[in-house]
Parts: sequence; structure tokens; C-alpha cells
Amino acid sequence: MIRGYRAELLSVGYDPRDAPDAVRHEPDGLLVVEDGIVVARGAHADLAEQFPDVEIETLPGLVVPGFVDAHVHYPQTDRIASHGEQLLDWLNRHIFPAEKAFVDKAHAEGVAAFFLDELLRNGTTSALVYPTVHEQSVDALFEAALERNMRIVSGKVLMDLGPDGLKDTVASGRAETERLIRRWRGRGRLGYAVTPRFALASSDAQLADAGALLAAHPEVLLHTHLAENVHECAAVEARFPGAADYLDAYDRFGLVTPRSVFAHGIHLSDRAFARLHDSGAGIAVCPSSNLFLGSGFFDFGRADRHRVRLGLGTDVGAGTSFSMLHTAGLAYQVALARELRLDPFRALYLATAGSASLLHIGDKVGALEPGQEADFVVLDCAATPLLERRTRANELAERLFALQILGDDRAVARTYVLGECAWQRTSP
Ligand code: GUN
Ligand code: ZN
Repeated sequence: MIRGYRAELLSVGYDPRDAPDAVRHEPDGLLVVEDGIVVARGAHADLAEQFPDVEIETLPGLVVPGFVDAHVHYPQTDRIASHGEQLLDWLNRHIFPAEKAFVDKAHAEGVAAFFLDELLRNGTTSALVYPTVHEQSVDALFEAALERNMRIVSGKVLMDLGPDGLKDTVASGRAETERLIRRWRGRGRLGYAVTPRFALASSDAQLADAGALLAAHPEVLLHTHLAENVHECAAVEARFPGAADYLDAYDRFGLVTPRSVFAHGIHLSDRAFARLHDSGAGIAVCPSSNLFLGSGFFDFGRADRHRVRLGLGTDVGAGTSFSMLHTAGLAYQVALARELRLDPFRALYLATAGSASLLHIGDKVGALEPGQEADFVVLDCAATPLLERRTRANELAERLFALQILGDDRAVARTYVLGECAWQRTSP
């Protein structure tokens, strides 16, 4: 099946900080998709005559690659907007009780279905997702992702020091991880991530096991939290007195690798930033979560000086929105708090190809280049009266910035997965 889509096309396939020609924009473009893969892209005037027999649909808006959420928790969907605490108290009071319910597969299935539909409504087609400690919470998510053809990476949470009802053991954590990797390998567009919750929730033996699992399975990612909250960092320092810093506590167990994705990284030493760069590991920046839990402002300037790989995550349910557009707007605001002016094209890169590269799926999604999978979003610059006023007759950079600052799920007119319309807004 071959089809053409005519629209204004925009993608940022490389970090514009490194590559001045990273922005690819066709004001009147044509995207040709065959069996879910982009086979050609260019100006409609140049390309249309090469595809005389292809049916062409005109899309109503600005087409960008499907968003890639580099860090999000599906079991926390129903705990967004839980009032009153910073990280450790918030986990104990609001999150752990909610996660215990995922021992019930039917409950997990219901939340997974809502969660993935919410991603699509927000234009997110790929994500690196925390489930819970329960093996069946991964099955529920992967089964729902398979039904929707989405590119989802996840892995059972390891937490042998967790609270009662929410902990595994070194042996069960390893056996369940091995089973899940075997069960899901090569299916659909799914990938696996070894997922110790954070340094405080796993024993030394379990952290060592996570390193062994990572070494034994070169195709899987390592996904965890790093240096998010000052009280968490103090507890890590007390628990690992021999470690140079929080990152070093992971490093000692073989967890700092090019396939490692660390969420947050708010409170990092220069040594840790340098080690992240040298190792090829990267950070999923989560500004919505960091504001909501009072964790702090990510230091883009220092990360850039050390040339650390970055992506963008919502971190729902500490993050308060599934919208990667809105999260990009918040990234601008936290960057400015530390005097870095985040360019709207770079913010789009972080929300698409940057996150895809962090997840090692950058060859498949994130830039709408020929050969890539045709996951894309149709953005509506007139989604609200204010957006319409603010974007009217404006040049591209200004429109894109307004979409990030004023836009959210309302600005997503349609979401396409492998060239098929997976979600379409019925109003405004
Ligand atoms: N650190 C350990 N667990 C969590 C979690 O569920 N959310 C966030 N934001 N940080 C964590
Ligand atoms: Zn998180």
C-alpha cells in the first residue's frame, strides 16, 4: 500500500546545537509512505511527478514526527495531581499504594489501554515506560502496545528494598526479567529495558544483577532515576559512602553505559556530567515533574558544556501533562531559569529525534526521513483562539514556539502510526 500526504512538513533530525542544517522544513511538502515506511519526502512541486499514480491526501496542519517520551510511568496515570509532597514522601503516600494494585492483571490492562490512548491523543507514538514491580504489568502494557502498533520500551521494575506488597527479590527480579526478555524479544515494535527503580530501592546484590542482565543482553536498555531530589541524594550519599557521587553508585555495578537512560539528573557534579559524556549514557530531562515535586531546574548549560546526550520526558505522574508540546514549553522555562535560551527547534529535536536517539531507536523514528517508520502528528496552529491569534501570519520559529508555550493535546489534530491514522480530534 503506497500513499502520499501533502502538508507543511517539519523535522529536526540532529541537535541544532551541533548541526546548523538540522532543521528540515518543506512549506508545501509531500511525504510518500509505503507499508508504514517513509519512502520519499520533499517539496510537493519536486516530488509529485515521480508518484503520478499515488493517491495524495492533504493534511490540515503542520506535520512533525510523532513525539518520543523518554521517561513516563504508566501506573501513575491515576495519581497525577497528588498534592503536597516532595519525591520520597510523594512515593510513600501516593505512588506506592497505587502501584500495589497492579498485582491484578485486569487492573493493569485497563490502565495500560487508557495510558496508550492518552499518548496517542497527545501525539506521542514512542515511549520509554516504567510499569511496576509486577511481571504482568509489563505484559499488560506490551499487549496493549502491540494492539496499537506503538513503539514502546519497558521492563519490570526491580526493587527488592521496596515496601511490602511492592518488592521482589534478587532471584525473582532476575528470573522475571529474563522471562520477559525471552517472551517479548522481536515482537512488534517493542523493546526491553532493565529497570531498577532507583539506587535506594535495590540492594547492592540486585544492582549488581541489573549490571549482569545488561551485559548479558546487548539489545536492552538500562532505565532508572538519577539525582532528582536533594533528600534522595543525601540518602544515596549515606548509603554509598565510597562512591564519588550518585552516578558513581550506579557505575560501580556496570550500569553506566551507552544504553543507559537516566531520568532527571538535577543535582549532578561536573565529574558526573563528564562521566555521562565519556560513557555515552544520557539524561531524560523531565521539567514538568521537576517543577511539580519541587526537585529543581535541569542545568542545560552545564549538560551542554559536557556534551551530554539529552532527551525529553513527561515523567507522568510526577509530570502533570502527557503533552510533549507542553513539556517542551516547560523545558524552555527551566532552561531560562539557568540563563540558557532553549531554541524551539532544539526543543522539538529533544521531543522527537533526541529522545529517539537516547532510546536507541533513532534509526527508526524521530525525523520522518526516508527509510524511517511513518509515525507523525498533524499540529493545528489554530487549535484555540489564542493560538490562532498568536500564530497568525507568523514565521515558523515563532509559530513553533507558540505551539510549545500555548499548545498541548488540543493542538494535536491527528496522530499517525506507521502511516495509519491512529487518533483524530473531533472538534475544536
Ligand atoms: N524515583 C524513584 N521512583 C520514582 C518515581 O516513581 N517517580 C519519580 N519522579 N522519581 C522516582
Ligand atoms: Zn520517573
